Amino acid sequence: MTDTRPAVVLIGFMGAGKSAVGRLLADRLGVAFTDSDAVIEADAGRTIADIFATDGEPAFRDLEHRTIARLLTEPVGVLALGGGAAMHPGTQALLRRHPMVVHLRIDLDRARARTGDDTRRPMLRRADLAEIHARRMPVFDAIATLVLDTADRSLEQVADVVLAAVASAPQV
Ligand code: S3P
Repeated sequence: MTDTRPAVVLIGFMGAGKSAVGRLLADRLGVAFTDSDAVIEADAGRTIADIFATDGEPAFRDLEHRTIARLLTEPVGVLALGGGAAMHPGTQALLRRHPMVVHLRIDLDRARARTGDDTRRPMLRRADLAEIHARRMPVFDAIATLVLDTADRSLEQVADVVLAAVASAPQV
């Protein structure tokens, strides 16, 4: 049977390691790795920072949702979503139908430490970043089929746990 959806979808706050873990996982599963942020930038021919600055966050969220809705119907292998993507109600509805949605959980202090002041990530400049993090965590937990704390695990260990879950999920 030909896959018509991603094998695994990774969600989580900025700095959780979605891209790094995603690449490892894809490698081990022998599938492609797709990052929704990279697809948005390639399609638009603009950076996310530019889309935020010029069009505003609501326009970015709309574009992000439409891109992800499409990617969820394509055999894109391991799909990592941008850190705020799973807050969109339309995206949430689609994610609830996917059998392998993994929340890579990261606490705010570690997220800040890992991301530094990356200028490519406009949300990091938000004064209410702590509230945003607090709001997202329970939502991501509720949507995910697997919640994984990344705090005391190496990238390889995180990938191992996800691989074990994929192996025991016959529908994926
Ligand atoms: C965002 C996270 C970013 C990117 C955009 C918005 C967010 O993705 O989608 O800057 O709202 O947390 P990463 O989690 O890959 O940095």
